[in-house]
Amino acid sequence: MPLSTDYVSKTPDATGRFAYSPEENAVWSDLYDRQMVLLRDHACADYLEGLRKLDIDAQAVPQVADVDARLCAQTGAGVKAVHALIPQDEFSTLLSERRFPVATFIRKREHFDYIEEPDIFHECFGHCPTLTNDAFCRFLEHFGRLALDLGEAYSERLFRLFWFTVEFGLIREPDGLKAFGAGIISSPEELVWAMSGEADAVPFDLMTILRTPYRIDIVQPIYFVIDSFEELAGCLATDMRTALDKAEKMGDLPARFETAA
Ligand SMILES: [Fe+2]
Repeated sequence: MPLSTDYVSKTPDATGRFAYSPEENAVWSDLYDRQMVLLRDHACADYLEGLRKLDIDAQAVPQVADVDARLCAQTGAGVKAVHALIPQDEFSTLLSERRFPVATFIRKREHFDYIEEPDIFHECFGHCPTLTNDAFCRFLEHFGRLALDLGEAYSERLFRLFWFTVEFGLIREPDGLKAFGAGIISSPEELVWAMSGEADAVPFDLMTILRTPYRIDIVQPIYFVIDSFEELAGCLATDMRTALDKAEKMGDLPARFETAA
């Protein structure tokens, strides 16, 4: 997540609704249409089913309150409108409550292909459908509690696990590798690259992930593949403090990118 942004989240009206201009709705609709062409073949089944269950609007930016109510009915999960970027503790607290933070602004057309900041397309289109899977929600809830318990000293390494799964994870399905990470699902550029067959996709391995550095401002040079969301939820049964200490002691694997931004 970037440290700063020029984008500002919107202010709701007295009924909790957010107003979007015709151009903002057009950006949403164009993003939605462009992504769906590929996602029908390349998104995981739970994502596609979740998109249907949440009845995410293809034509206009959805209202956070509507998505929240529909999610709650599915898995007891929810979303909360937040400022564009929030402190990590606030982020982890929301996860631990099975709630996902949603910035309410939408990217400008000049950032159509790629945006570092998480906008509402990334949050609602990218993340929310998979929150209809209970095992995935259990993972997020547990991850949030762990992040709070372990504190800042472990944060950077722990969030590699979030990055390589919730943001950029792939899952193996009977007919091939599919995307579930919101950073792939919501980014035209990342989705094309991740599904090109040229990207490196390796089996999920907790210790490898904890030792793999990443950059937020490039398409990812490596993706990790889970076999199921139960596997993902189950990985947190590990003593994470010990695993993180071990990863620290073993050191990072060589970066697969230029380290100077
Ligand atoms: Fe995200």
